[in-house]
Amino acid sequence: MFAIEINKLGKTYKKGAKVALKSVDLKIKKGSFFGLLGPNGAGKSTIINILAGLVNKSSGTVKIGGIDIDENQQATKFKIGIVPQELVIDPFFNVRETLEIYAGYFGVRKADRRTDEIIKALGLQDKATATPRSLSGGMRRRLLVAKALVHNPEILVLDEPTAGVDVELRNQLWDYVRKLNQAGTTILLTTHYLEEAEKLCDEIAVINHGQVIANDRTENLMKLLSSKELIIDAADEISSDMASLLPSLTTKLLAKDKISITYDPTKIEVAEILRIVAGEKICIKDISTRQPDLEQIFRHLVATK
Ligand SMILES: Nc1ncnc2c1ncn2[C@@H]1O[C@H](COP(=O)(O)OP(=O)(O)OP(=O)(O)O)[C@@H](O)[C@H]1O
Ligand SMILES: [Mg+2]
Repeated sequence: MFAIEINKLGKTYKKGAKVALKSVDLKIKKGSFFGLLGPNGAGKSTIINILAGLVNKSSGTVKIGGIDIDENQQATKFKIGIVPQELVIDPFFNVRETLEIYAGYFGVRKADRRTDEIIKALGLQDKATATPRSLSGGMRRRLLVAKALVHNPEILVLDEPTAGVDVELRNQLWDYVRKLNQAGTTILLTTHYLEEAEKLCDEIAVINHGQVIANDRTENLMKLLSSKELIIDAADEISSDMASLLPSLTTKLLAKDKISITYDPTKIEVAEILRIVAGEKICIKDISTRQPDLEQIFRHLVATK
């Protein structure tokens, strides 16, 4: 069923202050890889911090693994591992000790601990005995991810886990998180790297100004903009009045010999466009097409809703 169920969630940080969340509804299916996207200040971390029990909600209900946080917040903490956006780390213990202490806090028996596996998965082997103070920003981020995993949570929540993390670790981290997801862990992710979200998430919610403005399977969201772009490289210069020759299409000269044609694939086929172009005696050297990516869809949603 649902790993996380949020109903009419509202949050105002201070009396009279701007409303951070207005009646947010989110249902995150067990086992899904769910992306929560939105511009800065949209309310993503507020939702996550409410799930973590770090921020008190103003209204609404939140269930984690079927348990209402108002009824038994302590029990929900065992079900969820949270990687916070802020880099807060206990300065007194080294990497391995930090993980052991957290495992102890969650009552994980010594025999069941996965400290070494987690250290390895996050590429922290060389830093196992380093104090957090001596870690670079990206390594602290890795430690935070490691900390969230010590109790083998059913749900892993990652708030901007790849901010300031280099490409290699990003790939390593995603490989590991994907594996966890395949083994049944529900993942809730916020990120500003939309390309990553597009690749990883099977469902995405977009929030803006504390409201959900879109929530669908990723492949359905990708269909929201039905336009495609065809780019033609010509052997010779393209006359500037090509544009008027294709009244039903949006054309743009990208260079003297390069034209971009935006079209709706449900209304016209590429073959038809190519026939029109060839009819203009344009000698086609090369063609390519581009689909709108999540970034374009995201910008469209945020601008229009
Ligand atoms: N502790 C706080 N006290 C007062 N206002 C806060 C607090 N934390 C967040 N806010 C406000 O709540 C709104 C939502 O912030 P939040 O941190 O949830 O956004 P976000 O979507 O996580 O943004 P970002 O992408 O920048 O991380 C913002 O207007 C922010 O200024
Ligand atoms: Mg945030």
